Amino acid sequence: MSAALATPVLAANWKMNHGPTQARAFVAAFLARYTPRTDRTIVLVPPALSLATTRDALADRRDILLGIQNVHYEDKGAFTGESSAPMAADAGASLALVGHSERRHIFGERDEDTARKVAAALRAGLRPMLCVGETIDQRERGETEAVVLRQLRAGLAVVDASAFDRVLIAYEPVWAIGTGRTATPDDAATVHAVLHAALRERAGTDAIPVLYGGSVTAANAGALLAAPGVNGLLVGGASLDPESWTAIATTPVPAT
Ligand code: PGA
Repeated sequence: MSAALATPVLAANWKMNHGPTQARAFVAAFLARYTPRTDRTIVLVPPALSLATTRDALADRRDILLGIQNVHYEDKGAFTGESSAPMAADAGASLALVGHSERRHIFGERDEDTARKVAAALRAGLRPMLCVGETIDQRERGETEAVVLRQLRAGLAVVDASAFDRVLIAYEPVWAIGTGRTATPDDAATVHAVLHAALRERAGTDAIPVLYGGSVTAANAGALLAAPGVNGLLVGGASLDPESWTAIATTPVPAT
C-alpha cells in the first residue's frame, strides 16, 4: 500500500521549458513563497534534463513531489533519446505523466503505448498520472465520453488491483490545452463524474484522484477545484512563472 496523496493534487507541467539553470531559479523563488501545507499535494514536473537539478534545489522540502513528463515502456536498452521510469525514479521523480495529449497528438503515442508506460511506471515504483481528453472534433461529434473512457480503460488495462492506490488520472480536453479556452466547472464536473464512475467499476474505489488540466490560471483555479469530482489541477503555461504558480498552489481548498 502506498500512502494516499493529500488532495487536491496541484501539478506544474513545465513541458519543454526551464532547463537546469531556470529550474533552480524557479525553485528558489517558489520555496521563498510557499510554506508546506498538509491539505494538498504539490508536484513539479520539469523536463527530464532538469529533474535531478530540481530535486537538489528542493533540498529538504519533501512536501513537494517531482514527476517526469514521459517515460519509455522498457526499463533500459537501445532506445536513443528516451528516458526510462527507473532512471526517472533515480533522478527524484515519484510520478510520471503518461499519455499527455501532446505525446498522443504530436508524437503519435497510442493507447497501447500508454498501457505499457503505466506498467513501466508502476514497476519502477512511480505513480502514473494517465492523461485523457477529447479533441474539439470529438467533442462536437458527441464522443467525449466514449473517447475518455476508451483512453482510461486502455491505459489501465494492465494495472492490477493492488496498484490502484498509486494511480492518478488527468482529464485534459485537448481544445483547452494552451488555448486560453478553459472547460467550465460544469463541463469538467460532467466528465469527472464519468471517469470516477468508470474507476469505481474498474478499481472498486472512489479514491483515485482525477485532476483537471487545460488553460488553468490563478483566476479560474478556485472555481475548477470547487467542481464536484475535481481532485486537483494539472497546469501548463500558468505554472512557468513562480508567482502565478504560487497563486495556484495556494488556492483555498473548498470544504468537503
Ligand atoms: P495549459 O497546459 O495549462 O498550458 O493549457 C496544460 C497541460 O497540457 O498539462
